[in-house]
Amino acid sequence: MIEIRNLKKSFGSNLVWEDVSFSIEQGETVAIIGRSGCGKSVLVKHLNALMYPDSGEVIIDGRNVFDLEYISLRKMRQRFGVLFQGSALFDSLNTFENIAFPLRYFTELNEEEISDKVMEALELVNLAGTSEKSPAELSGGMRRRVALARATILQPDFLIYDEPTSGLDPKTSEEINQLIISMAKNLNITSIVVTHDIHSVLKIATKVAFLEDQGLHWYGTVEELRDSDNEELMSFVSASEYQIRN
Ligand SMILES: Nc1ncnc2c1ncn2[C@@H]1O[C@H](COP(=O)(O)OP(=O)(O)OP(=O)(O)O)[C@@H](O)[C@H]1O
Ligand SMILES: [Mg+2]
Repeated sequence: MIEIRNLKKSFGSNLVWEDVSFSIEQGETVAIIGRSGCGKSVLVKHLNALMYPDSGEVIIDGRNVFDLEYISLRKMRQRFGVLFQGSALFDSLNTFENIAFPLRYFTELNEEEISDKVMEALELVNLAGTSEKSPAELSGGMRRRVALARATILQPDFLIYDEPTSGLDPKTSEEINQLIISMAKNLNITSIVVTHDIHSVLKIATKVAFLEDQGLHWYGTVEELRDSDNEELMSFVSASEYQIRN
């Protein structure tokens, strides 16, 4: 479980949000929504202490991640897989090496063990046979799947997706949604998904966190979202649906 307690973050005079608190239970898929610039990417970067807050805590297994020293910090970060906004593959490395990267960096596995794990990961994301291809030779959807294979290669407990379907056509988005669902189920991963795509939210999420007005404006289950009469939330959701339809 991840407990976010009273987080506040600003950059100079730019207050991103203050007093954000909510908990993410084991095995859940929490969607983080809100308009551009409301601080979704900044929030998820706090979960594994890639960014530090002005104040507040993120508690994982009873410990505040912002208090961790080098070795425990590194161990904690290994429990997270991250699919960064825009995939962020290494352009100079082929598919195989992109996925192998965390194994080379964090483990002592030999070449054969690395190869076995990479091939298994490629199959999991339906990309068998592409290991020699460079990122430039792959489509947007394929790049997203390579990034997903890389993010899961260390068998993380938590997986952060920052806009996993943005810029993809509806069919490819649907494939990515299905992969997110199957990762959560088959690998029992706790997922945190930043997205603008309300269709994805309804399909994949168990809980929804809505950031607005420099804070967490609404937090609840997907069922509660469907029934909600919260004005700001509904206006955000219908604007997104309008965008999807048009
Ligand atoms: N490294 C940084 N240094 C200074 N300001 C930053 C930094 N990262 C983000 N910000 C600012 O923090 C605010 C929130 O940014 P963030 O990237 O989290 O938004 P977002 O909700 O993810 O937006 P989008 O939907 O467009 O991705 C913005 O005002 C942004 O300019
Ligand atoms: Mg963002």
